[in-house]
Amino acid sequence: MVTPLLKAHHLVKRFGSRTAVEGVSFTLQRGESVGLLGPNGAGKSTTIGLLAGLLVPDEGEVQLEGSPIAGETDPRKRKLGLVPQELALYEELTARRNLEFFGSLQGLIGAKLHRAINEALQLVGLADRAGDLVKQFSGGMKRRLNLSVALLHDPELLLLDEPTVGVDPQSRNAIFDNIEQLRQRGKTILYTTHYMEEVERLCDRVIIVDHGRIVADDTLVGLKRRLAGTGRLTLDLSAAPEESTLQAFRNRSGITGVEVRETRVTMTVEDLTVGLAAVLEEVNRSGLRVRALESGQASLEDVFLDLTGRSLRDG
Ligand SMILES: Nc1ncnc2c1ncn2[C@@H]1O[C@H](COP(=O)(O)OP(=O)(O)OP(=O)(O)O)[C@@H](O)[C@H]1O
Ligand SMILES: [Mg+2]
Repeated sequence: MVTPLLKAHHLVKRFGSRTAVEGVSFTLQRGESVGLLGPNGAGKSTTIGLLAGLLVPDEGEVQLEGSPIAGETDPRKRKLGLVPQELALYEELTARRNLEFFGSLQGLIGAKLHRAINEALQLVGLADRAGDLVKQFSGGMKRRLNLSVALLHDPELLLLDEPTVGVDPQSRNAIFDNIEQLRQRGKTILYTTHYMEEVERLCDRVIIVDHGRIVADDTLVGLKRRLAGTGRLTLDLSAAPEESTLQAFRNRSGITGVEVRETRVTMTVEDLTVGLAAVLEEVNRSGLRVRALESGQASLEDVFLDLTGRSLRDG
């Protein structure tokens, strides 16, 4: 078997009494593009931090090309490029000065640094704004600059922690196009996001984490196959259901995922006909009324709901 570019081996990370990452293991092969999905607090950023060497695991290890990374100064860390979830930029400096600073931390100097900066700015479409202060940038432009910082030393593996979070759809698309280009250039990508459509477009494989553990590691096709024949039901009820009603839904066999948002309840059901009958029975018992009902085949979002009991995005 080919030695993977990166291997996470039984990673555990605790913060006080809280275990953020609890035995996470997976591999990334060269050129692969893998989505890392999970609800808020699932342990995605902690996992990325461990892979990037920003955090030290309590157990387990990270291997690059078959051997463990040896601390902060291991030169092989240059193969990694990290785009952190929180913007890491100096607001009072220009875009170019930021890139000069971060590039020099990667050991780039002189003409090589200059060339790397121009290429990175070109890719993210900020070449004409290089002389502007970062504080004058829009949120989307800051995100693009944040991405370009990770590209300067031309890393083989990109660890992208929600690189499109909190920006308008147009900027999100622009950033996403950049990442697709990087993929086409053969970069290996680990991509954290709350947007399932991004994963569908970019990723060959998806790792779903919940409560610090991997609950699925599969191809998109494999994940969809899991829910083949599964249906989804969304009910709008006359009032928000009591916890006891939700529990009654969960206890019915054939109902695999239940999520509530005020008066709307979304469920995945093994069989629509049987599931619908069971659900309506419980609604009648609760004294609530159905105001609207939608049904259909389960999507990838529903796979997520099914595995984690929560939807991908809050609110
Ligand atoms: N530095 C820290 N100190 C204490 N607890 C932490 C720290 N970093 C993370 N945690 C906790 O670890 C858990 C996982 O957090 P993490 O940031 O990895 O989640 P996430 O999956 O990236 O979530 P999000 O989608 O909101 O970014 C959370 O319960 C969080 O509160
Ligand atoms: Mg995070």
